[in-house]
Amino acid sequence: MGKFIQGCMRIKDLTDAQIRGLIDANLEQGIDVFDHADIYGGGECEIAFGKALKEDPSLRDKLVIQTKCGIVKDLSCHRYDNSINYIVDSVHKSLNRLRVEKIDRLLIHRPDALMNPEEVAKAFDTLYAEGSVDSFGVSNFSASQIELLNSLSKHKIECNQIRLSIAHCPMIEYGMNYNRFNDSGIDRDGGTLDYCRLNGVNIQCYSPYKGAKKSFIGDNVRYYKLNKLLKELAFKYEVQPNAIAAAWLLRHPAGFTVINGTTKAERVAQIAAAKDIALTRAEWYMLYHACGRKLP
Ligand SMILES: NC(=O)c1ccc[n+]([C@@H]2O[C@H](COP(=O)([O-])OP(=O)(O)OC[C@H]3O[C@@H](n4cnc5c(N)ncnc54)[C@H](OP(=O)(O)O)[C@@H]3O)[C@@H](O)[C@H]2O)c1
Repeated sequence: MGKFIQGCMRIKDLTDAQIRGLIDANLEQGIDVFDHADIYGGGECEIAFGKALKEDPSLRDKLVIQTKCGIVKDLSCHRYDNSINYIVDSVHKSLNRLRVEKIDRLLIHRPDALMNPEEVAKAFDTLYAEGSVDSFGVSNFSASQIELLNSLSKHKIECNQIRLSIAHCPMIEYGMNYNRFNDSGIDRDGGTLDYCRLNGVNIQCYSPYKGAKKSFIGDNVRYYKLNKLLKELAFKYEVQPNAIAAAWLLRHPAGFTVINGTTKAERVAQIAAAKDIALTRAEWYMLYHACGRKLP
């Protein structure tokens, strides 16, 4: 798995030229994986991307297309659905919207409390057998939930997409606060970080530049100290602060992949500069502390 993926959650309102520009900017940096979901923009994001593929069919072979299903947004209530019918139907609709024959990787977007792992395994079998999906992953799943799926499916889970950034890293915090009474000592990870490392499940970090609500980079008073340090390190490494935020994730030995959600083509190269930065241990920990955390 490469170091970066381009997220397509926010592309609904881009023009055709802007979407093509974003695709090209990524390919120029060697980033060829594009992350979608059936619900992004109510399906409009996949449709907009499919339009770019239709306009230039030669693009398809250059791209790895990943999409997700399992979150249902309808008028009745917000809910999850990992049933066989829902998964298979959702993939068929994504294929139509994206105008492709095959999804390279399908992720179950969130665990459904009513999920029956046998059904998910059957859905994977069906989609693989008909040639609609090549490989499978999950998002927001714990270690044991992945184990449950793996125990019944011959299609092993390849990746787990999780919210992870300097500003939001409970799975990393817990590892250093085990057996403590403070808030960071509360296990919100359930052994998932170590499980993924032990089992070769690639962790894809989503919202890598997002704070509590908006991006933590730039004029965000809540992250004043973090931004000051990001700027200092950006000056040292001759990059933009977003590259330092990405480098913080890439420095972790688990081999995370970072999903960039930017809609701006020019930011793709800025962030990709992170691949050549190896933050020192001290810098990594200074960034960790700059979010107001303490260590035992
Ligand atoms: N599995 C899940 O549950 C889940 C949930 C959320 C997202 N995702 C996936 O992860 C992808 C990334 O998530 P995200 O969009 O929340 O993450 P993000 O990349 O952390 O956030 C991107 C936002 O930050 C803004 N931003 C402001 N200053 C920036 C800077 N200097 N550098 C970079 N970005 C800056 C971007 O604006 P500009 O567009 O103006 O650059 C954009 O609105 C999504 O596209 C989606 O594919 C998955």
